[in-house]
Amino acid sequence: MRVHVADHPLITHKLTVLRDVNTPSPVFRALVQELMTLLAYEGTRGVRVEPVDILTPVAPTTGVRIADPKPLIVPILRAGLGMLDGMVTLLPSAEVGFLGMARNEETLEPTTYAERLPDDLSDRQCFVLDPMLATGGSLTAAIEFLLARGATDVTAICILAAPEGLAAVERALHGREVSIVLGAVDERLNEHGYIVPGLGDAGDRLYGTV
Ligand code: PRP
Ligand code: URA
Repeated sequence: MRVHVADHPLITHKLTVLRDVNTPSPVFRALVQELMTLLAYEGTRGVRVEPVDILTPVAPTTGVRIADPKPLIVPILRAGLGMLDGMVTLLPSAEVGFLGMARNEETLEPTTYAERLPDDLSDRQCFVLDPMLATGGSLTAAIEFLLARGATDVTAICILAAPEGLAAVERALHGREVSIVLGAVDERLNEHGYIVPGLGDAGDRLYGTV
């Protein structure tokens, strides 16, 4: 498992405002998009491109374009949806699939309640979006889902992670290669499975309590 923590003062600055309990939902939503654009830049370093011949006003030259098949972006509902616009801003030609997952707040086990993904992912680069990697249960389930459909190239982009969750995902992967790009790794999980200091419940802060 490759883990990259995007170490940049702009990310730390925006994260600080995001964490603040007094930051209202509209500002929170805007910050998630801004952070996502910065994290997407890091997360797409390995995006597949192919050569393309073009003509500038001065001379012919060779550049690159995003290769086919196009990358697949998979936001994990609900909170991952808040990251989608930031990602497609950088990768407008990507396709989007969806996984709906909810963590049982008693057992901390995730359940999958929705899925809209291509059946065969064997040649697709997949980018999973979920702001929070806490116990790692949800991200592990999402990655397993994609691997079971044949994906071999998976990058997860999360805003915050707990060390316990990162270790759990790594254990569950048993050496299968996956990349994780993070805005920050926090101190720990608390007894309720929340990231400390964290930012609280990302879905609730984005959309309000259901
Ligand atoms: C949150 C978050 C992750 C999950 C992380 O979603 O967006 O998907 O919890 O926790 P874990 O690492 O312990 O699995 P939640 O289940 O609260 O659903 P929501 O996005 O609908 O709020
Ligand atoms: N889910 C969240 O939204 N926040 C946490 O801290 C943990 C899980």
